[in-house]
Amino acid sequence: MYVCQTCLIFAAQNETRFFQYNNLMKGIILAGGSATRLYPLSKAISKQIMPVYDKPMIYYPLSTLMLAGIREVLIISTPRDLPMFRELLGDGSRLGMRLEYKVQLVPNGLAQAFVLGADFLQGEPGCLILGDNLFYGQNFTNMLQTAVSMIEGSDQRGACIFGYEVSDPRAYGVVEFDADGKVLSLEEKPEHPKSRYAVPGLYFYDHTVCDKAAALQPSARGEYEITDLNRLYLNEGTLHVQLFGRGFAWLDTGNCDSLLDAGNFVATIQNRQGMYVACIEEIAWRNGWITTDQLLTLGKEMKTRYGAYLEQLAQR
Ligand code: DAU
Repeated sequence: MYVCQTCLIFAAQNETRFFQYNNLMKGIILAGGSATRLYPLSKAISKQIMPVYDKPMIYYPLSTLMLAGIREVLIISTPRDLPMFRELLGDGSRLGMRLEYKVQLVPNGLAQAFVLGADFLQGEPGCLILGDNLFYGQNFTNMLQTAVSMIEGSDQRGACIFGYEVSDPRAYGVVEFDADGKVLSLEEKPEHPKSRYAVPGLYFYDHTVCDKAAALQPSARGEYEITDLNRLYLNEGTLHVQLFGRGFAWLDTGNCDSLLDAGNFVATIQNRQGMYVACIEEIAWRNGWITTDQLLTLGKEMKTRYGAYLEQLAQR
């Protein structure tokens, strides 16, 4: 087990095109639940389809998977909400991706993603991201690619999760380190946290993840906990943790205020820089998954600033 402290590297990353990816890893977005903390907002509509400034929330986790080079993604949601995600994103071919969909009948835990997703993963490594987790910051793409390279390939075993310092970690999974940065413990929503490092909803696992998830028992609150899954890797000695630095944004969208904050954050960055956050068409193009002509066509379909941004990228 080890911890990589990230550093800020100022690079002309935003102009990068055509990353070289050859990933086996597949991705899962867990976008179910009933989001009762957002009622009445979420009473009749999925939280993960709600706007975060100018795009549906699910664009943000999807963009994270794409930045990791993950081209095949399973979206899991409720029977009510899944058709809406399918309508929004289709089979993924317009992004040069493959998207599949799966219903979760009961929201009985994050680790269930790997029970529901076992057929989709087919024994390959898998990355899980929660549909309401937004990440943004310098060097993020490198960190994602580091996570992928740590555990991809049949000879490599283990899991890679992340740590992020927060003022009150009690609502999260919490990771504790010793003085050398070795992971000592993982706890889910502890009343008395042993550190200020929360574990964000982004997890990379090797090909053993589905077997491990299938063997889990529900916790005292009746959920198949992701923290229990991570603890299996910790006990095995194969858990890696990368830390996000203080300049990095991990945003929550749990209640109305944090949802509004996230929207304002995205608006501030985009309007200041003129570059979009979590623009999935742009990432598909920069990854070389769609051509410039396809990007232009996607832009022309939307008579909005978002569409104009895509057109401008294609014509640059
Ligand atoms: O956000 C990071 C945290 O996410 C981690 O630090 C915790 O370790 C992890 O347990 C999780 O905690 P939350 O309290 O945020 O989990 P919650 O039950 O709210 O679920 C997170 C999202 O996943 C939420 O949008 C609903 C969705 N979900 C949840 C469950 C339990 C599902 O789609 N299916 C489920 O079965």
